[in-house]
Amino acid sequence: MPDSTITTLDAQYIAPTYARFPVTFVRGQDAFLFDDAGRRYIDMGSGIAVSVLGYANPAWEEAVCTQAHTLSHVSNLYFTQPQTLLAQHLCERSGMKRAFFGNSGAEANECAIKTARKYSADLHGENTRPVIVTLENSFHGRTLATLAATGQETFHHHFGPFPKGFAYVPPNDLFALTAMLESQPVCAVMLETVQGEGGVEPLDPAYLNAVRAMTLEKDILLIIDEVQTGNGRTGKLFSYQHFDWLPDIVTTAKGLAGGLPMGVCLLGEKVMNTLSAGSHGSTFGGNPICAAAALAVQQQLTDDLLAEVQKKGAYITEELTALPQVQNVSGMGLMLGVACTRDPKELVLALLARGVVCLTAKHKLRLLPPLTIGWEELAQAVTIIKEEIAK
Ligand SMILES: Cc1ncc(COP(=O)(O)O)c(C=O)c1O
Repeated sequence: MPDSTITTLDAQYIAPTYARFPVTFVRGQDAFLFDDAGRRYIDMGSGIAVSVLGYANPAWEEAVCTQAHTLSHVSNLYFTQPQTLLAQHLCERSGMKRAFFGNSGAEANECAIKTARKYSADLHGENTRPVIVTLENSFHGRTLATLAATGQETFHHHFGPFPKGFAYVPPNDLFALTAMLESQPVCAVMLETVQGEGGVEPLDPAYLNAVRAMTLEKDILLIIDEVQTGNGRTGKLFSYQHFDWLPDIVTTAKGLAGGLPMGVCLLGEKVMNTLSAGSHGSTFGGNPICAAAALAVQQQLTDDLLAEVQKKGAYITEELTALPQVQNVSGMGLMLGVACTRDPKELVLALLARGVVCLTAKHKLRLLPPLTIGWEELAQAVTIIKEEIAK
């Protein structure tokens, strides 16, 4: 159990929006976390897909410390080297043309929503095509607009009224999407290729290909929310790179800066000039320390590492699907959801007690280990997970 002073102070002073697990982490090294009693855990959650290089990665640490010594912040009124170099790196690897930096996934999606509306207003007139279509069971963030974009009713309770101009269709249903695009003034379709918070549910590749073709035909923008799937998580830098087309807008955050808060909205050719000076902004967005950290992350997400991510994902999937208690393992790369006979919340608690940190997503156990996790600790974690599932 964690130090009671911290849990008491936490209960007294922290807004009670989080149901915390009974552990206080004080340190991390590679794919291991250590609690306040010095106990070691294997991390299979990466702080919800954030710590892609694990903890205390030497190049990341060096980049952050050097930048903190050199220049921590000046705002976006001035040029800064790390931000520009990061934008160049991300554009070259994503096929996008320009980057707008924010501090989170929700902010990256806010930028995407604003860009889509402005693109349409510039071409077709103010407010003539305001609607953004998203999918049921999606998750796009917790700000009011991104909550409105989120196609899950449970997140909408208590917080209305929401910004207008969002419509939802069931995932993998082309007829529903066609009908929506024909009946509503739509400027963009926004989706996750693998619905992460929705239970690690990958969309059907044929559906994704058809959505791209249909949106191109109607000059409707395709926004891919890569907040969770990006930064190597699925075994490609971005998950749409498993396909042979480009989106119009890509958003990402979480693993982008490997543990520092950063989000980015990457703008493709059609929308590269849509935002103009003063039309959008962020005080901290693209902050030099976060940008230096992100560059250190991106430089380590090599093709070799991404190939390893796919191999490790295949290994976990093969091991777990062999269990009779496992109904299926969904997802791609090191973003996996395990549907099994044990209650996921209770299973995560049992695993924590055995020194393995995992997550849940809806009715599933969710695994999002650091992309750099070693084979030995991965095998140890998988053995413990199998033992617990089989109980
Ligand atoms: C797909 C997706 N989009 C957006 C978000 C929101 O990101 P953030 O919590 O950084 O605002 C999340 C967070 O889980 C996510 O998974």
